[in-house]
Amino acid sequence: MIRVKADELRQMYLAFFASKGHAVISGSSLIPENDPTVLFTTAGMHPLVPYLLGEPHPAGRRLCDCQKCIRTGDIDSVGDTSHLTFFEMLGNWSLGDYFKEEAIAWSYEFLTARAYLAFDPATLHVTVFAGDRDAPRDEESVAIWRRLGIPERRIFALPKDDNWWGPAGQTGPCGPDTEMFVDTGKAACGPACRPGCGCGKFFEIWNDVFMQYEKKADGSFARLGQRNVDTGMGVERTVAMLQGRATVYETELFAPVMDELAASAGRRLDASAADAAAARIVADHLRSAVFIVGDAHGVTPGNLGRGYVLRRLIRRSVRFAKNLGLKEGFTTPIARRVIESYRHVYPELEANAARIVDELLKEEQRFEATLDRGLAELDKILGHMRARAQSTLPGRVAFRLFDTYGFPFEFTADICREQNIAVDRQGFDQAFEKHRAVSRQGADKSFKGGLADNSAATTRLHTATHLLHRALRIVLGEHVRQRGSNITPDRLRFDFSHPDRMTPAQIAEVEGLVNGQIARALPVAMETVSLEEAKRAGAVALFAVKYEEQVKVYRIGDFSAEVCGGPHVRNTRELGRFRIQKEESSGAGVRRIRAALEEAAGEGA
Ligand code: SER
Repeated sequence: MIRVKADELRQMYLAFFASKGHAVISGSSLIPENDPTVLFTTAGMHPLVPYLLGEPHPAGRRLCDCQKCIRTGDIDSVGDTSHLTFFEMLGNWSLGDYFKEEAIAWSYEFLTARAYLAFDPATLHVTVFAGDRDAPRDEESVAIWRRLGIPERRIFALPKDDNWWGPAGQTGPCGPDTEMFVDTGKAACGPACRPGCGCGKFFEIWNDVFMQYEKKADGSFARLGQRNVDTGMGVERTVAMLQGRATVYETELFAPVMDELAASAGRRLDASAADAAAARIVADHLRSAVFIVGDAHGVTPGNLGRGYVLRRLIRRSVRFAKNLGLKEGFTTPIARRVIESYRHVYPELEANAARIVDELLKEEQRFEATLDRGLAELDKILGHMRARAQSTLPGRVAFRLFDTYGFPFEFTADICREQNIAVDRQGFDQAFEKHRAVSRQGADKSFKGGLADNSAATTRLHTATHLLHRALRIVLGEHVRQRGSNITPDRLRFDFSHPDRMTPAQIAEVEGLVNGQIARALPVAMETVSLEEAKRAGAVALFAVKYEEQVKVYRIGDFSAEVCGGPHVRNTRELGRFRIQKEESSGAGVRRIRAALEEAAGEGA
C-alpha cells in the first residue's frame, strides 16, 4: 500500500481518466444553480443531470471532476469513523458513451495498478444489484467482476436500498450500481457481516452507477434512451484507506483541525469514546460550515432552507464543543485551519476567509446568548424539582424551554441525565404537536387575505405570488386555480389545483418566468373597476362571489392582472431573486409551493 495524500489522489484520478479520453471539468458550486428541488449539491452527478438526460455537454461525452458535496441526511451518524456532512467526490462520467465493461475495468485498474492506488486485490469486495420486479439482477456486472478476478464469495448481491442509485421518490435517471469496498482487516461482526452491514469492517470507497432507466411519474421504470455511467469516489474515505488509517479524521485532511481542538481543550481527545465522537462532530460540522459560507454563492445562518442547515451545523458544533470544554470563540481557529488546509484546492475559501470567520463567530455568539437564558431557567426548574424530590421533568416544561428560550431538547435531556432526572420525551412530543396544530389554526384565523402582516417583506412576497400564479398557468395550463395562499415575511405558500407532481423542469421554468418578470422591472398598477369589467378584461378573480361590485385590479406590466386587495410593491425590480423551495401535495388534486425571495446575485454579502 502506498501512502497517497488527498492532493495526489485528486491529481492521479483526473490524470488516469484523462488518459482514458475524459475531459477534466471543474466542479460546481455547493449551491445548485439550476435545481430548486434540493438545498445543496449532494453528489458529483448532481450538476450534470441535464446532460445525463441527453443534453449535449460542451466538453464531450466522457467527463471527470472533483466535486464538493454536502449531505445532511446522515447528520446523526456523524461522529463515527466515516460519515461526513461535507466531502469531496471524484467522478467519471459516460454520457451515452462507454458502459459497464469499461467503467468496471477502469475502476479495477485504478484501484489495483501499481502506478495508481495499488490496493491489494484480495482486500476488494464488491456489491451488485440483486434484482426485483422493477429491474433484473445485474448479471453483467457480476460477470465483469469475475473476469477481472474477483471471486464469487467477494461479490454480494443486494436489494435496491443498497445497490440502486437515483431519485428516491422523484422521477429521473437511475439504475443499478456496483460498489467497491476495502476490507479493513477488522474482525467480522458476525456470520452475516458483509459490505454495507455498517460494522466498519468493510469501507466503501467507490460507486459505479449504471443509469439505464428513467423513473416515470407513475412509478414505473422505462429504459433510458441514453445509457450513462456515473461514478463517485469519496476522497476522504479513500485517502483514509490508502494511509491505513482507521478513520477519515486521522488523515491530513482533518489532522490540523483535530490538533487544534485538542490544543483548545487542553487534553487528548481520543481517550474516551464520547470525547472522540464530540471532536469528530465539531470538526465535521465546522468544516462543512466553512465550505457553505465560503462558497461562491455563500449562505448565511438563518431560519429557513440552506441558512437553517448552516445554523444547525454551527449550533450542533457549539453543543458538542461544550462537552469538550471549549470556550466561546472556538470556531475561529478551527475555521482558519480548514481554510489553510484547502485554500490551494478551493481558492474561494481564502477569498472569503474574513466572512467565514465572522459568520461562524456571530452565530456562535447568538446561540450562546440563547443557551445562557435557557440554562438559567432550567437550573431554576431543577432546583424546584429537587426541593420537591421529583425525578421526572414534565414534557411540557421541556417544551416551554424550547419554545420560549430556544433551548434544544437534547440539551435539556443531557443536563437532566447528568443530574439523574428523567425527561418525559413523549410529553414533549405531544406538546410540540399541539403547539403546531394551534399555530396552524391561529395562522388561518389571523391571516386576513392570506397575509401575515403588511411589512415590506410580506408585500414583496405578495406581488411575487401574483407572478407565480400567472407563471403556473403559462407553464402548467389554464386549469391552474389558486386554492389558498399564506404569506409571511419569510416565505409565500401557494396552493393551486393541478393533478400531478411538477417535474424539476417545470419548477425551473416557473422560477425562470417569475425571475424574468422581475428582471423586466415591470410597473405594478392598481385600478378600481366593476367585477364585470375586471372579468371582461381577463383579470383573474379568485373566490369572485366574495367580492363587492367595485373591485381593485392589480396589473403587473403586461404579465398579470388579478382582482386583489393589495398591498403590492410599485415595481417588480424591488423583489430580488425568486426561489421555489418546495413543491408538494396538499390534498387530492392540489399542489403546494413554498417560495422565498432572496437578495439578487451581486447584492449583499
Ligand atoms: N451518484 C453516485 C453516488 O453519489 C455515484 O457518483 O454515490
